[in-house]
Amino acid sequence: MSEEKTLLVTNALPYANGPVHLGHMLEHIQSDIFVRFQRALGNKVVYVCGDDCHGTPVMIKASQLGITPEEMISKAWASHYADLQGFLINYDNYYKTHSKENQEISAMMYNEAFKKGFIITKKISQLFDPQKNMFLPDRFVKGTCPKCGAKDQYGDNCEVCGATYNPTDLKDAYSTVSGATPVLKESEHYFFDLPKAGEFLHDFIRNRGVIPFEMANKLEEWFKQGLKPWDISRDAPYFGFKIPGTENKYFYVWMDAPIGYFASLKNYCDNHGLNFEEFVKPDSKVEMCHFIGKDILYFHSLFWPATLHAANLRLPNHIFVHGYVTVNGAKMSKSKGTFIKANTFLKFLKPETLRYYFASKMNSSAVDLDLALDDFVAKVNSDIVGKVVNLASRTAGFITKRFDGKLSSKCYNEEIIKRIGDIKDDVIKNFDSLNYAEAIRIIMSLADEANRYIDKEAPWVLAKTEGQEQKLHEVCTDGLNLFRALITYLKPVLPEVAQHASEFLNDELNLKDVEKPLLDHAINKFKPLFSRIEPSAIENMIAASKEDLKEAQAQQAKASEKKESETEFEPLAPEITIDDFAKIDLRVGTILEAQEVKEARKLLKLTVDLGFTKRQVFAGIKSAYKDPQALVGRKVVVVANLKPRQMKFGLSEGMVTAAGPGGEQVFLLGVDDGAKAGDRIH
Ligand code: MSP
Ligand code: ZN
Repeated sequence: MSEEKTLLVTNALPYANGPVHLGHMLEHIQSDIFVRFQRALGNKVVYVCGDDCHGTPVMIKASQLGITPEEMISKAWASHYADLQGFLINYDNYYKTHSKENQEISAMMYNEAFKKGFIITKKISQLFDPQKNMFLPDRFVKGTCPKCGAKDQYGDNCEVCGATYNPTDLKDAYSTVSGATPVLKESEHYFFDLPKAGEFLHDFIRNRGVIPFEMANKLEEWFKQGLKPWDISRDAPYFGFKIPGTENKYFYVWMDAPIGYFASLKNYCDNHGLNFEEFVKPDSKVEMCHFIGKDILYFHSLFWPATLHAANLRLPNHIFVHGYVTVNGAKMSKSKGTFIKANTFLKFLKPETLRYYFASKMNSSAVDLDLALDDFVAKVNSDIVGKVVNLASRTAGFITKRFDGKLSSKCYNEEIIKRIGDIKDDVIKNFDSLNYAEAIRIIMSLADEANRYIDKEAPWVLAKTEGQEQKLHEVCTDGLNLFRALITYLKPVLPEVAQHASEFLNDELNLKDVEKPLLDHAINKFKPLFSRIEPSAIENMIAASKEDLKEAQAQQAKASEKKESETEFEPLAPEITIDDFAKIDLRVGTILEAQEVKEARKLLKLTVDLGFTKRQVFAGIKSAYKDPQALVGRKVVVVANLKPRQMKFGLSEGMVTAAGPGGEQVFLLGVDDGAKAGDRIH
């Protein structure tokens, strides 16, 4: 790491249809540490992220909640942003894919790809929900597994026997949106011609060092199987951007999601007087680094570079891939209370506890990382409190009380102070290559040495010993210089602790000066920097996560209740203008006579006075009004200009309006007192 460089660092964009949880936090913490570390080295970094707002799940969840997708994504954005701030994730811009910048860049990239012949169209058949009038993504179709017969399995795989299949193979398939039986329906889709970019992609993955070698080897399988055109369109209704030049086709969420990195960057550049083009042109000097989880490698190493290539834009320099977070050795589980939301964690624990624990176990590989809760408590308490902060709390008091808050003018043990500089290159190398665990191991072994040194020199004994004044001063100065070095190295991981330590030590804690001890230097009074984690905090957090689950279930239940009652309503008819409405001449009428039509199951024969004329009307209200005589004298609303219709029993010269589904549930519309027969209804 010699010359100064500029980096564009991105973190995968969390979906807007759910809260940020500790799995997400692994990545945000990993990228945030990287960014803070690069800045400590003197590099320039633009660090962006945002919410991934589009797609069917967002649209459906919003409809279940009875809000618009726009409302839902803006709520999600605010809560995600607050959680990220809570974990001290320092984005330059946290934006969203549902933005004008993203729409513009997506359209531009698509148009470029189109011009170069990368876009092809094909008709495909897909399951369709005839009740909701929408195509169903695999996740929204359930049914009986064709292999093992397990009920209620998703459209693409069976959670019971592990079989994978097409949603059309399911038995008794149903739409999870409406419960209706899906039908196959054909529609034209737009595809990105991935095979056309095949050679380019192979070279990109193999020869540019963007993806670690071992991972590139695995990706080789994709090429062996042969690349297939990528379906980038979805039919309306869809929450997303319309594909330019089409009437009702939308970009599939994964088309505009990575473009969201650029949209966030563009928005940042525009607000800060920076030149966006410099970042995205093909020969840009800016290093682009993506942090992602192993589940989305395919999108980032194939689709994204292919679309960039087609649009003649710059490519990523690094794709850093991490594994999944497990809790106590198992997949995060809602029922065990180990599916922990970022926000729930922050109610009980400090953000730096997690930052430290994750960092202490993170390396550049994509293996899963276990949050073992007992180990988490033990490690944080022993390392941050016991080893690092303790160093200051055991020495600072003497400097304040005995030496007027001033450090000595020389070290007592040059040897141990020299150790600070000895580990510097190694620490830097490991942070730079994302081997945070190794960096922390090295830093902590210096902490161990430092504590052994203080134990041995025992300032609390020196303080009580005649003639040891100067040694006490120098040993405590050494202790605080070691503390300063540890915090300087840990600053990317523990930014808030570092901030407080910086105020206490009256020093910037610059990495470049880490090996030069502070001498003859005034410090401030020491205040406790970090408190131990109490095991009860963990218990409470788990209990609260179980509560979160109950709340989510209750919300879900309420949403489906609402959905059910909604489905009782007839869909709204197409919009009309006031002129359309004016064509219907509604009049107040008085029922003069009402008789049963013996031969007809449903009909009553009414004679209605419209003031200027009398009309004979057959109305299908027999089941609801069993005593026709009771209707005589009632005022009703009549469609007076309806074309007369010849019926088996006579001519019907209008229609009496009523509400309700039919049968006994028919309710004639009434008119308030004062209106007279013949009045028009406006
Ligand atoms: N919206 C897409 C990403 C688009 S990027 C252009 C997405 N969103 S996500 O919310 O499902 O995941 C966001 C990131 O969090 C992904 O990198 C994913 O791998 C990561 N994680 C989600 N759950 C995780 C764990 N349990 N553990 C570690 N990381 C996990 O994918
Ligand atoms: Zn099965």
